Amino acid sequence: MTRGKIAVLISGSGSNLQALIDSFDGRNRGEIALVVSNRADAFGLQRAAKAGIEHIHLPKYKSQSRADYDDLLSQTLKEKDIEWVVCAGFMRILGSAFVQEWRERIINIHPSLLPAFPGTEAIKQAINARVRIAGATVHFVDEGTDTGPIIAQSAIAVGNLDTVESLKARVLVTEHKLLPKAVMWAVDGRISINDGVVTISEAEQPVISIFSPIVESE
Ligand code: GRF
Repeated sequence: MTRGKIAVLISGSGSNLQALIDSFDGRNRGEIALVVSNRADAFGLQRAAKAGIEHIHLPKYKSQSRADYDDLLSQTLKEKDIEWVVCAGFMRILGSAFVQEWRERIINIHPSLLPAFPGTEAIKQAINARVRIAGATVHFVDEGTDTGPIIAQSAIAVGNLDTVESLKARVLVTEHKLLPKAVMWAVDGRISINDGVVTISEAEQPVISIFSPIVESE
């Protein structure tokens, strides 16, 4: 079985990377072949090292243009025969040349029910908006900010006592189930995109976790 090589781009803790490492355990068609971090101190690099996965720190130097950085990233991925790029907490926006080159092969996880709350601090935006349902979205990356075709979403209830921290923690739990599932669909060739609409063959309901409302006592 030839394995689709996956590169995971990170900037921080890498808990989603860990979920991918735990799911792609050698019995699947995909293989986490490379982890790239733009930050040297990203804990995800240690997770990769522990799992024996090739990992590199690719810093963005001030002297470098964004296009040059993206170019170097793309070259690095191509040298390793990467087929799929997964952004899992990668805190850089990929430019249009990169997106065009890797179109429909870049997957991102975002901690909101898109199209609500794109961009940074999505959880804080959700708390400030006092929404009752929050969640996470896995989507293909296009030229916009968190606007690409949606693959799958998970939803959870928000309680009055929720804080940015508590909600972030619960959303992360759903992310860890959602992301590996979506990446597996992609690697297995089960995803098609038509006019921005994603179809997953033989998939169960893409919204995989709706938790019951929270009962709070003050
Ligand atoms: C996640 O909430 C993800 O949705 C967002 O960044 C966070 C990354 O967390 N894009 P981790 O590094 O995977 O723990």
